[in-house]
Amino acid sequence: MAAPDPERASVPEPASVPEPVEGLWVTFEGGDGVGKTTQASLLEEWLTGRGHAVVRTREPGGTEVGTLVRDIVLHHRGDIAPRAEALLYAADRAHHVATVVRPALERGEVIIQDRYLDSSVAYQGAGRVLDATQVRELSLWATEGALPDLTVLLDLDPVAARARLDADEKPFDRLEAEKTEFHSRVRDAFLALAAAEPNRFMVLDASRPADELATAVRARVGDLL
Ligand code: TYD
Repeated sequence: MAAPDPERASVPEPASVPEPVEGLWVTFEGGDGVGKTTQASLLEEWLTGRGHAVVRTREPGGTEVGTLVRDIVLHHRGDIAPRAEALLYAADRAHHVATVVRPALERGEVIIQDRYLDSSVAYQGAGRVLDATQVRELSLWATEGALPDLTVLLDLDPVAARARLDADEKPFDRLEAEKTEFHSRVRDAFLALAAAEPNRFMVLDASRPADELATAVRARVGDLL
């Protein structure tokens, strides 16, 4: 929130104007097949059961425009230049934050989101080997610096994650189809991001049972609410 103007400090706000309420923004990050969607759903169920207004969303694809971008980045046949890919994710993010995330936070709601800018730093930065700082700056420009209150990183060895995806028997998208080496770089990048921002990140070993992970996430979110 902006600082109050000292010139106007003596003028009382009209009584009918409610105090701005801040919502809570939680993102789930990690490689493909680590169980983000399961954990996001369990958290949503828990919060809804406790009477919170929850917005469940994702990137790419949390808006109508985002659905179109998602189709390009995940299903386009043939190469997309790495910088074009980074810009597409950033464009999706700009629209999503402006039209879904900020309005929900202003209404005081809880946002539970699959993936955010850390995915761009990990996948387009470490995975596609673009400059990580530039990739992050691009997203920060796109979103006017919006960062979540909490980012849950589900960490799992890419070989174990791949086995889970294989068991799902769904066709791989463009990113999932990348080699293990790509996914190892992505994993290392996520861990480095978490180490650099320990207050925002909570790192969980995603090989643990889903209910244990959910309990840990609830405890942290409960503290923040
Ligand atoms: P994901 O949302 O995990 O979809 P699903 O659970 O349906 O497979 O997949 C989106 C893919 O997009 C995933 O492989 C990671 C990738 N991605 C990026 O490369 N950069 C980004 O900024 C984001 C948000 C996702």
